[in-house]
Amino acid sequence: MSTSKTKDKYQIAVVPGDGIGKEVMEAAIHVLDALDIDFDYVYGQAGDECLEKTGSALPDETLEIIRNSDACLFGAAGESAADVIVKIRQEMRMFANLRPVKAYPNTNSLSDDIDFMIVRENTEGLYIANEESYTDDGAVAKRIITREAEERIIDYAFKYAKDNNKSKVTGVHKANVLKKSDGLFKDIFYEVAERYPEIATEDYYVDATAMYLITKPESFDIIVTTNLFGDILSDEGAGLVGGLGLIPSANIGEDAALFEPVHGSAPDIAGQGIANPIAMMLSAVMMLRHLGENEAADRFDNAILKVLSDANILTGDLGGSATTMEVAEEVKNNL
Ligand code: NAI
Ligand code: MG
Repeated sequence: MSTSKTKDKYQIAVVPGDGIGKEVMEAAIHVLDALDIDFDYVYGQAGDECLEKTGSALPDETLEIIRNSDACLFGAAGESAADVIVKIRQEMRMFANLRPVKAYPNTNSLSDDIDFMIVRENTEGLYIANEESYTDDGAVAKRIITREAEERIIDYAFKYAKDNNKSKVTGVHKANVLKKSDGLFKDIFYEVAERYPEIATEDYYVDATAMYLITKPESFDIIVTTNLFGDILSDEGAGLVGGLGLIPSANIGEDAALFEPVHGSAPDIAGQGIANPIAMMLSAVMMLRHLGENEAADRFDNAILKVLSDANILTGDLGGSATTMEVAEEVKNNL
């Protein structure tokens, strides 16, 4: 991620999508607008409603908007999510999936000191979904691990640690069983580590990591791992710190970046204006840091922290009774 401000004016692709995606997007933009940064928002359609209206869940026009923007904010899609968000990640070659796991006050976090980032490889591993059935009773799934992709993600994790003053990177694998593929991952992990002598390193097997996330979550800084392990551990991470209304994410490529809450369109609460906008807002904070707007990111992040600490204006998922836009207004007032 960039460490200093990159431009005076940014074009942001805004894709609200379906259900609460639209509601939390409106809330996040309400706060972004108060930050005195020159954003030119270009709205794109995607998702179930778009499919109904246009015949496509992800029109070329929307991809073009994302391609031509400095960053994309994405809300959530509904049933068409796989055709939308997975396709965007592929089209834009967004190789790194970042999911911060951080304890905020009054959110039922397992411990108050949890603050780590999972850096997940987004393009290979088991999620190439290359499967073959040999008989009715047997199937094989290929798991691809290449030096190119793993070195890129591991280097990204170390660089992220360096740029963000994190002291340790943990490599997670299963090299005792998957000696060739994860053996390669582990070798590359320690090769890349040599380029960053100031960063501490350790590596764990993925099963042990699943336990350590519960027994000593405070000990982690940055975790870097392959695609499936990253997917599983990041959902475990979400469970550690109080749920979907709070977890943002970033998808980063060489020349594209998309920021989205981890949650979906939540049809059970959509249209009522009661969704928690904090996951979307924290995604916007990640976007600001990516753009090098660290001062604005700190202001936004601290305002969210204040609102959670005060615990006066919270949505229902956090035990409050405020609306989405009441939370947005409160965050804005605390900037
Ligand atoms: P979901 O994340 O939409 O909802 C799961 C549960 O968490 C629901 O009870 C919901 O009300 C609650 N929840 C989620 N976000 C919340 C928020 N910000 N504030 C308060 N409560 C919140 O996942 P679900 O129900 O599995 O999927 C619903 C739809 O969303 C499906 O059509 C699915 O395909 C889509 N989806 C899209 C994703 C994306 O666009 N990236 C990711 C996950 C699901
Ligand atoms: Mg997942």
